[in-house]
Amino acid sequence: MSKVISFSSGKGGVGKSSLVTNLGCLFAQSGRKTLLIDGDWNLGKLSILLGARPQATIDKVLRGEISLIDSIEKVRENLALLAAPSGKIGFEELDAATRNGLYYQLDSLSTLQDVVLLDHSSGIHWGVLQFAAAAHQHVIVTTAEPTSYTDAYAIMKVLSKRFGIRRFGLLVTMSESQTETERVIARFGEVVENQLGVRLQVLDIIPWEAKLAEAIRYQQPFVERYPAHELTRRLRRICGELDKLPLNVSAGLRFFSSEQPPLDLG
Ligand SMILES: Nc1ncnc2c1ncn2[C@@H]1O[C@H](COP(=O)(O)OP(=O)(O)O)[C@@H](O)[C@H]1O
Ligand SMILES: [Mg+2]
Repeated sequence: MSKVISFSSGKGGVGKSSLVTNLGCLFAQSGRKTLLIDGDWNLGKLSILLGARPQATIDKVLRGEISLIDSIEKVRENLALLAAPSGKIGFEELDAATRNGLYYQLDSLSTLQDVVLLDHSSGIHWGVLQFAAAAHQHVIVTTAEPTSYTDAYAIMKVLSKRFGIRRFGLLVTMSESQTETERVIARFGEVVENQLGVRLQVLDIIPWEAKLAEAIRYQQPFVERYPAHELTRRLRRICGELDKLPLNVSAGLRFFSSEQPPLDLG
């Protein structure tokens, strides 16, 4: 049975897509059938990070031109990509019925994939969050900057208050001081847990790493370019942490449970 992990961030440029790409590669390397869904239609382009040239994109599925299964491109052993279209309106601008359609089509994948990583657009777009809220696990990505925490808080507020999500994993990226970041997130975690009544589990604090940007220039995932690097080991550990992170058990909609009532998207 598949598990969908959603990656959210309050703003762009925090390293979310790099994380999704690299974690996806590592899940795949560990023998898990992994699918990456590029839900960021404006700035996304997981295909670029993977050096892939996908023929099919999500918009063709949504227009009914191809089936979801046919649109999934194999990009590595055990790794598949549902790519974002380029130059199209954003996922957040799709109407409710169209997003609904994708939600139901995803059901057909439940027996084919072990892990699905959803990289959706940054920020609070109601429809996007409503879609993402159906994931089994929620990871919030933030940098170690104060404004980034504020944005992360806002996302968790919406996901918890409106969609009943009670558990979050937190990944802090681009940290320039482990001790300082640890101090700040300890306080942040307390505020989040007290104010929102959710559980926030810190998955890792990822240091600033210039080689990440370099790997992108070569259109090669970092973990493939630097398999023995300390950061690759860290990312592998994060995959292990994600295996342990409890699934959300709220009464809301979940991917891959077709008995649920239709989405009521406003
Ligand atoms: N830990 C890090 N250290 C340094 N640069 C990073 C780190 N994580 C990501 N980056 C860089 O930040 C930029 C934005 O990353 P990206 O994954 O596209 O962010 P997002 O998807 O959140 O917009 C990229 O150039 C990437 O290489
Ligand atoms: Mg991105």
